[in-house]
Amino acid sequence: MKCRVCRGPAVIDLRRHNANFCPEHFLDFTRKQVEKAIDEFDMFGPDDRLLVAVSGGKDSLAIWDLLLDLGYAADGLYIGLGIGDYSDDSGRHTRAFAESRQATLIEIDLRDEHGFDIPTAATVTRRVPCSSCGLSKRHLFDRAAVEGGYDAVVTGHNLDDEAAVLYGNVLTWQADYLGRQRPVLPEANGFPRKVKPLVRLTEREMAAYCVIRGIEYQIDECPMALGNKHIAYKEALNLIEEQSPGSKFTFYHGFLARAAERFDGASGDDDSTPVGLGTCERCGRPSSNDVCAFCALSERVSGHDPVPVELVRNKR
Ligand code: AMP
Ligand code: FES
Ligand code: ZN
Ligand code: ZN
Repeated sequence: MKCRVCRGPAVIDLRRHNANFCPEHFLDFTRKQVEKAIDEFDMFGPDDRLLVAVSGGKDSLAIWDLLLDLGYAADGLYIGLGIGDYSDDSGRHTRAFAESRQATLIEIDLRDEHGFDIPTAATVTRRVPCSSCGLSKRHLFDRAAVEGGYDAVVTGHNLDDEAAVLYGNVLTWQADYLGRQRPVLPEANGFPRKVKPLVRLTEREMAAYCVIRGIEYQIDECPMALGNKHIAYKEALNLIEEQSPGSKFTFYHGFLARAAERFDGASGDDDSTPVGLGTCERCGRPSSNDVCAFCALSERVSGHDPVPVELVRNKR
């Protein structure tokens, strides 16, 4: 197996590009894919200040690394969700990376700063953990970006993530979600711009990127997200990809190019695209109620005794 560029020994084959790469040219390839996505979707400019939401997993550490290498002013934001060892290890990887790159990392600990954690929230609300987790992350990303004067929030969603979400939304024809599947959500109503520069790269490519760059990351899946239906959608898409390389890319990017605009305006008034907003009387963030969903959650859960993650894991 030879590198497409230098004919030296290749370490990865990318069937959808019909190419093999050596480590150096694979890193070049990933940088070019990120630059292409930034450019194609007009994500941000060279002078924008970026806040990268970093989970300690491969994707968000890789995009932080890539953006720093491309010369962007990119700070990290890590949210401690209180999910036992999983969160402790994730935080450790994130801090180690920030230190190795001498990059600025903002940390917010849910329990220290807001009096609750995700296992306890899941138990008290009796909803799937991902629901209070997603709500908390969105709120804290938005708030940190606006308060810190950042131009955009960057997340590590990759092609597999976006194709799996699209697949799920198409299976059930969720028109409102389909209207929000773009890799850029513009700034609006006090909500910051949100961008996903890894939409041209797969999970496998990001894992290879971290290995080649020597970035240590959280390998485990979140123990509370086990059985998440997106995992089944990813497996289904991987089977199709195996038979016909490139179909994942065509599915997602074909949707963006040819179908996404048909769903414009289909979004409802959930907390990510609010209309007719006032402000939350607790935190001052935009909200359609007196108290925003995050502050309401925090009020409801913070008086409860902490529930360890082991007691929640298998209760779904
Ligand atoms: P997930 O929702 O876990 O698939 O994560 C999607 C993206 O959200 C990641 O790629 C990160 O950019 C961001 N993210 C997830 N968890 C955290 C966290 N604990 N702190 C900061 N950002 C996070
Ligand atoms: Fe959100 Fe696991 S990371 S529930
Ligand atoms: Zn090469
Ligand atoms: Zn609030």
